[in-house]
Amino acid sequence: MTYPIVKYGDPVLEKQAETVTEFGTPELEKFLEDMFESMYAAKGVGLAAPQIGVSRRIAVIDCSVGENPAEKIVLINPEIIRVEGKQKGEEGCLSIPGFREEVVRGQKVTVRAQNARGETFEMTGEDLLARAFLHETDHLNGRLYISHLSALKRDLIKRKVRKLQKAGEWA
Ligand code: NI
Repeated sequence: MTYPIVKYGDPVLEKQAETVTEFGTPELEKFLEDMFESMYAAKGVGLAAPQIGVSRRIAVIDCSVGENPAEKIVLINPEIIRVEGKQKGEEGCLSIPGFREEVVRGQKVTVRAQNARGETFEMTGEDLLARAFLHETDHLNGRLYISHLSALKRDLIKRKVRKLQKAGEWA
């Protein structure tokens, strides 16, 4: 099933998500399937569970946006263990639709996570994938990409969002 994406302003997006302790269950399999489905429906390259209102440390990534099944990545309880270099580029978030800002991130990033069976693995990504590792892991720590912007830019976005909320165009 496709879940609606939770938008900025909902407290679930700004709290620490809970560690997953149960693996290999049909419930988890179904949840992961729903996460991919919800991400594709929203045309995103990454989605964290809090973005569908579920405060658990689970994220899915697919830089091919559904074009290449080999690029599907499930990260459960992920931790960033190495960041090398820097990249500058535009970043957006399904929970803050309509906005994109330049964010400096690591260029090459290694994440350690568990898969659906609870097995621990490490994966290194560069460019967009590195950015996705950082962006999605941030989500699980209650951190949004706008927290990496200058206070000025962040406040501008907050003000615009507040206006949209008042107009009933942000739900
Ligand atoms: Ni996001």
